[in-house]
Amino acid sequence: MTAPAADAVTAIEEGLAALGTRYRDAFAGAADEQALRDAQAAVLGKKKGELTRVMALMRDVPKEARPEVGAKVNTFKQGVQEAFQSRLQEMAREARNADLNASPFDLSLPGRLELGRGHLHPVHQTRDDLLTIFRDLGFEVVAGPEVETEANNFTKLAFPPDHPATDMQDTFWVDVLESGDDPRSVRDGKVLLRTHTSNTQIRVMSQRTPPMAVVSAGAVYRRDDDLTHSPMFHQIEGFLVDENVSLAHLKGVLTSFAEALYGPGTPVRLRPSYFPFVEPGAEVDIGCVFCSESDGSRSSCKVCKTTGWVEVLGCGMIHPEVLTHCGIDSEKYTGYAFGFGVERIAMLRYGIPSIKLLFENDPRFIEQF
Ligand code: DAH
Repeated sequence: MTAPAADAVTAIEEGLAALGTRYRDAFAGAADEQALRDAQAAVLGKKKGELTRVMALMRDVPKEARPEVGAKVNTFKQGVQEAFQSRLQEMAREARNADLNASPFDLSLPGRLELGRGHLHPVHQTRDDLLTIFRDLGFEVVAGPEVETEANNFTKLAFPPDHPATDMQDTFWVDVLESGDDPRSVRDGKVLLRTHTSNTQIRVMSQRTPPMAVVSAGAVYRRDDDLTHSPMFHQIEGFLVDENVSLAHLKGVLTSFAEALYGPGTPVRLRPSYFPFVEPGAEVDIGCVFCSESDGSRSSCKVCKTTGWVEVLGCGMIHPEVLTHCGIDSEKYTGYAFGFGVERIAMLRYGIPSIKLLFENDPRFIEQF
């Protein structure tokens, strides 16, 4: 009876040895994780695993030899598990290295989320187009401040002290505190938000000697609020000072401006008007570009109210008193000045019915420009 028992032990040992060679080859040759798991199941699988078949021989192993054989089987199983785990880790390492060595992501590729390109606000587009026209005519573009002294905004422009524009109703006055002032006893600071860009006339003419030809654009502020007025809007101011400057030069420049804006042959007319800082002063109308007499549509034109003319700006010959306030010899030099609202031009240009649309910043409106 010892022979079969010894045979069984030997058969198990040989079986384990043969299996050992096979699983090592199979693990090493497994191409991916699934193949590795399949190879492991072929050895250790409870029902069909090859170890189970070897273990069937345990029946013939004598009782006293079983612990020893059992220990060998356990060591074998452990060996299979360790070999399986280390091959699994090796595969993970290989995958990671392949990933790292692969060509990198192209970070310069465009994103999937499309963020549309922004653009300048229609008021700024119009401002820039208008400034370009004057730059092409030889004017220099200069900036001026929005917070201004009463002197530069009104007094030096020859506004009489009681002029309605200086009224609380029209002008935003700025409280100016000096350090140590008690906020409850604010002095009348004589500082304001400029009501027009004409302040740049005073600033530039006080600093330079003629000849000069300047345009300036920027925000201005008034206590005004309706369909065609906003408390903040934009103006462009232009002026030229030299010897022998006449109203004819002014009309020539304004005609070139109207033609650049609305096309060749655009008619221009000057209507006498009053501004404290010019003498004579005029309002400038241009021929309505939204209707024409030939097709009879003028009778219903809302823009020119059927007059055929649209008022676009104020102008005049700079008052000698203003030149004197700026230290310019008014016997030697003369000059002209003009000023107009950028929003008004934009509204005429694009047929915008309310100035409010320009400042509500609704993307559905702004996108159209
Ligand atoms: N400053 C004037 C206004 O805001 C516009 C104006 C009129 C400017 C006549 C000028 C000018 O330079 O000559 O209403």
